[in-house]
This record gives sequence, C-alpha cells and structure tokens, in this order.
Amino acid sequence: MMKKVAIYLFFLIFSGHLFAQEPNSEVKEIKKVFIDNLLSKMTLQEKAGQLRLISVGGDLTLDKVLDKIEAGEIGGIFNTVVEPDLSQMQERALKSRNKIPLFFGFDIIHGHRTIFPINLGIASTWDRSAIAKAAEVSADEATSDGLNITWAPMVDITRDPRWGRVSEGFGEDPYLTSEAGRIFVEKMQKQSLADKKSLVTSVKHFALYGAVEAGREYNSTDMSERKMFQEYLVPYKAAIDAGSRAVMVSLVSVNGIPATGNHWLLTEVLRNQWHFDGVVVSDHGAIRELINHGVASDPKDAVRVAIKAGIDISMNDEYFLQFLPELVEEGAITEDEINQACRHVLELKYDMGLFSDPNRNLDPKLDIDTMFADNRLHREEARDVARRSIVLLKNENEILPLAKNKKIAVIGPLADSKRDILGSWSGAGRANLAVTPLEGIKNAVKNPESISYAFGANLSDDKNLYRFLNLYGETTKFDNRPADKMIAEAMKIAKKADIVIAFVGEAEGMAHESSSRTELSLQATQKQLIKAMKKTGKPLVIVLMNGRPLTLSEEYAQADAMLETWFLGTEGGNAIADVLFGDYNPSGKLPMSFPYNVGQIPVYYSHLNTGRPRGTENMGKYTTSYFDSPNEPLFPFGFGLSYTNFAMDFSLSSTKMNRDGEIIVTVNVENTGNREGMQTVQLYLQDVTASVSRPVKELIGFDNITLKPHTKGQVKFVIKYDMLKFWNNKMQYVAEPGKFNVYIGSDSTTQDKQTFTLLD
Ligand code: NOJ
Repeated sequence: MMKKVAIYLFFLIFSGHLFAQEPNSEVKEIKKVFIDNLLSKMTLQEKAGQLRLISVGGDLTLDKVLDKIEAGEIGGIFNTVVEPDLSQMQERALKSRNKIPLFFGFDIIHGHRTIFPINLGIASTWDRSAIAKAAEVSADEATSDGLNITWAPMVDITRDPRWGRVSEGFGEDPYLTSEAGRIFVEKMQKQSLADKKSLVTSVKHFALYGAVEAGREYNSTDMSERKMFQEYLVPYKAAIDAGSRAVMVSLVSVNGIPATGNHWLLTEVLRNQWHFDGVVVSDHGAIRELINHGVASDPKDAVRVAIKAGIDISMNDEYFLQFLPELVEEGAITEDEINQACRHVLELKYDMGLFSDPNRNLDPKLDIDTMFADNRLHREEARDVARRSIVLLKNENEILPLAKNKKIAVIGPLADSKRDILGSWSGAGRANLAVTPLEGIKNAVKNPESISYAFGANLSDDKNLYRFLNLYGETTKFDNRPADKMIAEAMKIAKKADIVIAFVGEAEGMAHESSSRTELSLQATQKQLIKAMKKTGKPLVIVLMNGRPLTLSEEYAQADAMLETWFLGTEGGNAIADVLFGDYNPSGKLPMSFPYNVGQIPVYYSHLNTGRPRGTENMGKYTTSYFDSPNEPLFPFGFGLSYTNFAMDFSLSSTKMNRDGEIIVTVNVENTGNREGMQTVQLYLQDVTASVSRPVKELIGFDNITLKPHTKGQVKFVIKYDMLKFWNNKMQYVAEPGKFNVYIGSDSTTQDKQTFTLLD
C-alpha cells in the first residue's frame, strides 16, 4: 500500500495535479502518509522549528535568519516583502535536512500595494461586491509579491471608539462584520489553497480584542458567555465556517485567562465545538506576555501554558525552540502535543502546494518599487471602493454636489497629506503614489486655477501627540509657523472663494494599534480653524478623515455639508472628488454609531431594552437616561444620506411561520429624487418575548438597489427558521415560538415595522 501511495504521490506532484483537487479520501490519505512520513524523520528540535514564525530585523539580521532557516529552526517568515530576500530564504529552507519549505506572511489589512480604504471604510460600503473587490485585489497583489498567508481579516466587534484598532475592523455589528469577514476569506483564499492566487487568511484576534475595557489598548476583557456566543464570537465563527485556515489569537485576557493560554477558548470552543482544523498562531510576543499576565512563572512555563492551551505557532520569540524539546524531555508536555501542532503547520504547507512548488510566485528579479506601484486597473477598483465608502452625514440646502466651475478654497491639515490618506496598516503601500484630496479636486475640475489651498492649522498643538505619532520616524509634520498666521492665510483664501472645504480629523497614526484616546473631539487647533472658516460666511463643507467615530456635535452644527471619508487609500483624493462633484452619488452607511460624547460609550443600536425604557408612562424621571445627554448617538449605525431621496414600504408573505417555513419580505423602493442613486435596504429583527432579553433590533440582512430618478424597484429577503435562533436561558441555540418584529429601513433607527408569529 505504502509503495503504491508513494508512486501515486510522485506522479501527482510532478504532474501538478495533486493540489488542485478537492480533497477526496484518497488524496487525504496520501497527504496523511506524506506528513506521517515527514514527522517520523524530524527531530524534536526540527518540529519546534516548524512552529516558529520569525521576522527579519533588529538583531535578527537576514544572514542570521538564513542560517537558522537552514538549521531547520524557522517554519515561516513574516514582514518581508522584498522578493529577492524571500527567494533566498526559500532556497536556504530547501537546503535544510528535511527540505521543508517556508511560508511567507504579511499584514494585508486593506490592500497590499494598492491601498483600499481602511476596513471601517470598506464596511461602510455595505456592498458585498465592493468588499470582495478589496479582498481580491489585495490577494492578487500579495501573492504576486510571493506571500502565502496574511493576518486578516480582523473581525473584532468594536463598540468603543476610544480603541484605535476600531479602524481595522468592520464595526459594531456581528452580521455586517461576519459578512465582511466571510467575503475576505472566500476571496483571498479562493476555492483551493493550491490556487497560485490563494492567500491564506488568519481571522483575528481570537477573541474579544475589540472589547478591551475602557477602550484602552491591550486591556482585559470580561463578558458573559451569552454575549460572547450571541455577538462577539459570531464573526470569527463565520470566517472559520468560510474556511479560514488560520486563526490569530488575541493579546488580551478573556474572563481572567489570557487568550494565548486559554484552553477553553482555543481547544474546547475552537477545535472541539467549531471543528477548526487549521493553524492557531499567537500574536506578536504573546507567549512571553503570559508572564506579565500572571499565568506563567517564567519563559519555559509560558511555552507550556501556550502549547497546552492550543497554540500551534509562536510569533516572533525564541522560546518555543528553546523550551519545547526540554519540556517534552521533562514530561511536562508530550511529544504528541508537539506533533499535533507541527502536523497543522505541515498540512497547511502541503495544501498551499509548497511541497510541490516551494517557489510559487517568487521572482527574485522582481523590482518591488515598480511592480504594483501603478497598476491602473487596481487603482480604478480602489477608487470605486473608496467612493462607495464615503458617508454623507449632512447636506443642508443640497449644497452638494458642487458645480465644477466654482472657486473652491481647500483648507486643512489633511487636505494634501499623502501619508495620512493611506491609513494605518499600509506598510507595503507607497505614499508618493497616493492621491490627496487637493490633487483629486484639481484633477476633477476644468480649471485647476480655481482651486486655492491653505494648510490652515496643525492637526494639534500638543507636542506630546507629535512625539507619539513620530516615535518610529517622522510621519506627521508640525508646521512651526504661528497658529494665527496660518489661520489668517486660510481666511484670506476662503474669503475669495465661493465655497470652503475643510479637511480635518486624525493623523493616520492616531487610529492604529496602540492608539487609544480618551477624548474623541477634534483637536483645539482644528476647532479654531473651523470657527474661522465659519466666520467667513462662506458655505462650509467639512470633510472628515479619521479612523474611528469622533464626537462631532459642534462641527455638525457649523457645517453646511459633512462627509465621513475615513482613510480612503491610494485613490482617496479622486474618490472624494467623485462624491463632492456628484460623479458618484454617495451611498455609504455607518458601520459604527457616532456618540455625542465619550460618556455615552459604549453606544450601539442592538442594545437590550431595560425595565424602564425612556418614555415609560407614569415613571417621571425614573427611566433609563442621562440628565446631561441623549441616550442615542449623534449618528446611528446604518446611517448615511444620498443626493437623492428614497421612499420604502414593505410587506411580509405571511404573519405566521412554521418551523420548516419561511417569510418573504418584499420591499418596494422608490427613488423620489432627481439623481440616480444606490440605497442599502436594511432588515432588522426583534424577538419580542423570549426566555432571555433580546436586543431591541438586530441586523439580519441588507441589500443594495440602484435606481434611476423617479423609478421603483424591489428588494426581497427571506427569513428562515435558523435566523430566529439565539442562545436561550440554558445556553442552547434555539428559536422560541412567539412574536417577532421585522423592521425595514435606511438606518438602524427605523420604526417601519411588521410582525409575524413563529408557531410552536
Ligand atoms: C500585532 C498585531 O496585534 C497583529 O494584528 C498583527 O497581525 C501582528 N502584530 C503582526 O504584525
């Protein structure tokens, strides 16, 4: 049998067919034999080597890394996108005793060379095809750059904008985030990992990173199991169900046990309940951090805790290699436990096709600076996704779109910044290729002379903030001119213009890993600039560039029109111009609520009701509320205007539903305005009475419809029994008979309601 399998394997590898096939039982058996055989030849040291993911840099120079690779001490490399280096590393891996190829990873969060909007922006499209485009182009560029695996999608539910990493996720809602995560996995990995364009995804950060207390980076999380399973774990599960072959573990502790050492999370839930059979990767340095967390006494103990919990790969530390063999010899862990982790890694490499084609996509002659630097098609796609990400928050007197022959004053510290528009996590992008808003506006108009520009104000006058932003090289420049001189210059220009467009918000470095804030308003310098602009009496368009919901009541009152543009990526400036001048009618919707003030946080639409909802009769002031703030956010989840208007009504196919039945929701949409536009129809559900309190509303579907002026169309949704399920009072996932409210609307505040009953 063995011989037959070996011959077949040889034939398939060299005929190139093996890895393109769906795994049937024969193929699976061949893979098993191959990996068993390999494992049987490996020393403990070599097995530990496969569990190490290393990045070149600091003391670990390329030369040192090359030697370690050849010694079989490294299984994968991350953070290198220089193809000649990657080729060299692979060459050395193939010289190691077992000739096990390396895999190469990189953070491809919102584009690789061509940068797309930050993920909060991508989520704002509420458009599955736009999300797919971003993922597809990213994978295409990354694989062409020799990469095999990425640390994405980040699907942490985020309801606290103080946390800087909300920019990397898809917002507050489990369904929208799950959809985005699923699409990322499907479009990046493709049908088969053997596809040369397949980029393996690592859904992250498992779990609950987005729920850090007080929005403070790396802080602890604590949450009921019900809330976890009902909301926060849902998107990770969706990505795994979509086939994500890797999971990255969060740096934080989950109910008192750090995720990296959390057996319940990594083994009982992930492996046993969810049947995940891919690779579990720890986050950067997370294993040694178990000591600080107080669940390991020293580095060796940390390795024991991590491997026992279910970590396969350690990211950037020495400890696995140093201590795993020793721990086996001492009997603290078994060799089987190491074999298990190593098997996951070898299986992944096998499925990626690396054993048959270790150099796939590697081209040592490729010049990385020009390769994807100016890919027109990808740029067009990035521009389209970018303009779909823009959310129109206000448009008084239909001041937008602008005519192209107006005299425009473009003002503000972000109006001409190439670095900021790319957003954080855009390491392989090139700022010099980005289009700033000023450039985009000039590109769009007939006479660029009609556009004037002034910097206006520094992003902030807080020198500490600049020190923080420029800690690792200068990305945000401070203009040393006196503040009043800069404002005076901006006012002079504004007074001569027909309209003022002010670009304000955050530097990209303010919305990143380790960028938590306690204040969410614009910095004082920017507020002064806007006040000055307002004083000119000119119509004022405020264009926001930022990576999180900010508190904007003052600016909302001052602006005639307001656009949320996030950080839109390489084509950002052109995309903004497309919307400002009406070449694209804005269709974005917010994926996260924007609070009035920090004190309201967390404020999210799918909250539970209370026993004393506001407005309860005869309760006087004793209802749930603040005496100094509304309960509701300034801008709700799902909100976004258009240059046209839509009317909607809807009906249900029945007011009763059986277990095996379904309800069809038919929505009539009419474009009642004078421009073509796209509306995102949002479907929300409320389980009115159940064994546990259920949210006032939950998003369960959405769809886009584009309509010409004064035309009508229809959108249909199907509500199925499974969509009514939730974790009940006994933590069983069931649907309970009773009354359900269905809401249709253009944002989460909709009161347009119909009701049906689920029969027993
Ligand atoms: C740490 C971050 O938490 C994670 O998201 C990222 O993938 C790794 N560093 C690698 O860059």
